[in-house]
Amino acid sequence: MSERPSVYNSSEPQTKVETTRLMDTTGLLENEKIRTRINLINEEIKRCLLDEDGEPAILYETTRHLILAGGKRLRSLLLILCSEAVGGTVVDALPFAVATEFIQTASLIHDDVIDEDSMRRGVETTHEKYGRKMAIIAGDLLVAIAIKLIGERSTPELLTYVATGGIKMCEGEAADLLMSQNKVQSYTTEAALEIIRMKTVSFMVSAAKIGAMLGKADQTQLEALINYSEMLGFSFQIRDDILDIVATQNGTGKTVLSDLRGSRSNFVLAHAMESCSAKQKEEFVQKMNDGVTEFVLDQISEHKSVEYSNGIAKKYVLAAKEAIRGFDFANEELLLLLADFAVKRLY
Ligand code: IPE
Ligand code: IPE
Ligand code: MG
Ligand code: MG
Repeated sequence: MSERPSVYNSSEPQTKVETTRLMDTTGLLENEKIRTRINLINEEIKRCLLDEDGEPAILYETTRHLILAGGKRLRSLLLILCSEAVGGTVVDALPFAVATEFIQTASLIHDDVIDEDSMRRGVETTHEKYGRKMAIIAGDLLVAIAIKLIGERSTPELLTYVATGGIKMCEGEAADLLMSQNKVQSYTTEAALEIIRMKTVSFMVSAAKIGAMLGKADQTQLEALINYSEMLGFSFQIRDDILDIVATQNGTGKTVLSDLRGSRSNFVLAHAMESCSAKQKEEFVQKMNDGVTEFVLDQISEHKSVEYSNGIAKKYVLAAKEAIRGFDFANEELLLLLADFAVKRLY
């Protein structure tokens, strides 16, 4: 092994920004089975990073920064739970789970460059600490490692599932970016949901599909788990959009009001905008473009857009739960907990 700092020691201190992360109140992380699986994911991530250590050292240091800073590990957990639901094992699913987590982290490194955000997972964003150029390469490296992890162990079919989710994610990120171009008529809840489908839901579906396939799901089980992960993805991203508006940086560990300041797609913003008069809409867009938050926050409050969004997110959670009802999945209670977490989470 190289003499450079291992990912296990503290010679690469994380510049933890002072945060007081809120406790999880949903019961998900208090669940011992969930905690065990997240611990396994984290250990496997560290093991993979030790395997994939190379030169130049700064590239690998940059690559480790965000993935070792934490994260909810939701997509990897989803993959494992979907596999176990139909009789698969954690051990078989683990490398695939870790691969999805590598891609997730890569997408966030790049997303933070795009959104110009400075904090993520309670630490400085990768580009803030290591510069945009190295951050972009680090994201690419994580994707490459993920492809290797899956490619070494699987059939082309599984690789295609990941790629399909990845392609949609890129399309969604691009559509999200284009939202900032001042088109009042494009800022609707319908458009926001379409972007969510691409940028968030599609990759969750990839994770669920891989898990289900590894567990040798039959066609109806596969469809149920795909449906579940779709509904989970919508509720999860609507919650993300709500948190961007109502949470604090200390609470989420990431930059807040980012969508508002960047005129990005956000379900809550879209609802407020939709509820405005034509004249107010122009002002809404203008204020967002100027980075003036007050007017927009007032509109959100006036039109009860957070409450509305919360209601929609809850409907998706109910639909997620409904999707798996009657299938007698081995770990149904964990899938139900995960669904609740999507909408109740505080970070
Ligand atoms: C952030 O995903 C991007 C979204 C699609 C909302 P997560 O909220 O799952 O981020 P981590 O992985 O826990 O940091
Ligand atoms: C990013 O969406 C989703 C990705 C596919 C990377 P957001 O920009 O809303 O995610 P956060 O809020 O920065 O985590
Ligand atoms: Mg972002
Ligand atoms: Mg967001």
